[in-house]
Amino acid sequence: MAVTANRTPDPTHLNHMLKERHHYDPCVIVIFGGAGDLSHRKLIPALYNLSLDNELPEKFAILGFSLEDLDDEKYRAFARSGIEQFSRRPIAEEHWAKFAPVLHFQRGTFTQDGDYANLRKRLEELDREYGTEGNRVYYFAIPPAFIDTCSEGLTKAGLIHPHQTGRPFTRVVVEKPIGHDLASASEINGQLARHFDESQIFRIDHYLGKETVENLMVLRFANAIFEPIWTARFIDHVQITVAEAEGVGTRASYYDNAGALRDMVQSHLLQTLCMIATEPPNTSAAESVRDAKLDVLRSLRPLGDDDIEKWVVRGQYGQGLIGGVPVKAYREEEHIAPDSKTETFVALRCWIDNWRWAGVPFYLRTGKRLPKRASEIAIYFNSVPRILYNANPRAPLPPNMLTIRIQPDEGLDLHIMSKVPGSQTRLQQVKVDFHYVTSTPEAYETLLNDVILGDQTLFMRRDTVEEAWRFVQPILDAWAESPIDPPIYAAGSWGPLEAALMIAADGRTWRTL
Ligand code: BG6
Repeated sequence: MAVTANRTPDPTHLNHMLKERHHYDPCVIVIFGGAGDLSHRKLIPALYNLSLDNELPEKFAILGFSLEDLDDEKYRAFARSGIEQFSRRPIAEEHWAKFAPVLHFQRGTFTQDGDYANLRKRLEELDREYGTEGNRVYYFAIPPAFIDTCSEGLTKAGLIHPHQTGRPFTRVVVEKPIGHDLASASEINGQLARHFDESQIFRIDHYLGKETVENLMVLRFANAIFEPIWTARFIDHVQITVAEAEGVGTRASYYDNAGALRDMVQSHLLQTLCMIATEPPNTSAAESVRDAKLDVLRSLRPLGDDDIEKWVVRGQYGQGLIGGVPVKAYREEEHIAPDSKTETFVALRCWIDNWRWAGVPFYLRTGKRLPKRASEIAIYFNSVPRILYNANPRAPLPPNMLTIRIQPDEGLDLHIMSKVPGSQTRLQQVKVDFHYVTSTPEAYETLLNDVILGDQTLFMRRDTVEEAWRFVQPILDAWAESPIDPPIYAAGSWGPLEAALMIAADGRTWRTL
């Protein structure tokens, strides 16, 4: 049984529910790798949707910068096809006619000084045409190996101004992966720091831009009913699942060197964990929020070799069925070595050693080729005492549970016990269900908007990225020391048996999504 609440705003609370209309400074956003896959699928559709919502500066231009043989007209066609295929809302001809002219393209390598000189000239022209006053956002949609080269090129061409808030401003956006391990992450961060001040660097973890992940802070800190029970005293354990039905797709060369631990756990799962577990920050200022999240990572109990052996499970997908359709094993995918040991699934148990969470295990799991795309946080509350309705040890009551659906069908469910109507006293579990009825903005819309506004709250600071690597590093080291063939799970299943056995050793089971 489900009781449904939709997201219909109560007009008396609109002030709290809607973002205020912001003041946007003029700027040009330069997309390095502007004709690449990320631009096509995510960045340009996100900018188009922001423009539909009138959430871009009035004086604004987009400049794609990369090697492809394109000009402004061809770039607009490329952008249009991205919007047609991937935008949350369909293209509206009238709006497209206004949006298309702000799209421009500058051809160039990332390595030649001359190309940066041309870029500078082009940006000065755009400043004159659009009145963008020298303000720049450089979006590095490029492999990490180019970060230093591009930063160096910009510095040499005099294209970086020292402050993010000074005039003109320069900001840089960096995509994950930031590094391959702790040492390389720290090296990349060092390279960035030679060219940009930390206040200018926006490291993206797109999970932090997802509506439901952002909503976690509101849920916890704008409601009096959750925070008092958000502790070890009331919570038994927490499960975070990020499941994908997709396989490795076209990203074999990156993924086979990364694996699920680096690709998902080090970033998206640990960031989500921080949002659930953080202490209330003192203010909503970016640094307060980021400090509070960093404290969570610093409180994670380091995993020793025995913990890794027992409480970290990896797996790799074999052949199987997804939605009834046969799919290949990971090792049969294009450009994947037939003896690859890369994990496509990870499940682990971790502990946060602080007063709030002492004794509460957090179980994290993620994998490709699981039965469906579903990301969810499940908070399991303690059981009621073994008296009254819970007196029968052979039929214990299910515990209350709050599930927060990150995607799809964003929203949350509160599972509570209720009486079945009738003369007998029979109990059933019911679900109080809240889901967003409107189409929510894509994470990249939220994040790009924040970059343009200069708000770093949802971006990862250098110390946060490195702290997340510090937690994961012992697992990488242990796996590197004794490489094994990961247990194979059938595509379309919930991962290897070892994952079920791991949580069963604690007397618990994974939630079925
Ligand atoms: C990316 C990972 O960061 O996130 C991908 O590199 C993964 O492997 C993707 O598929 C998942 O993102 P989303 O938003 O589709 O859940």
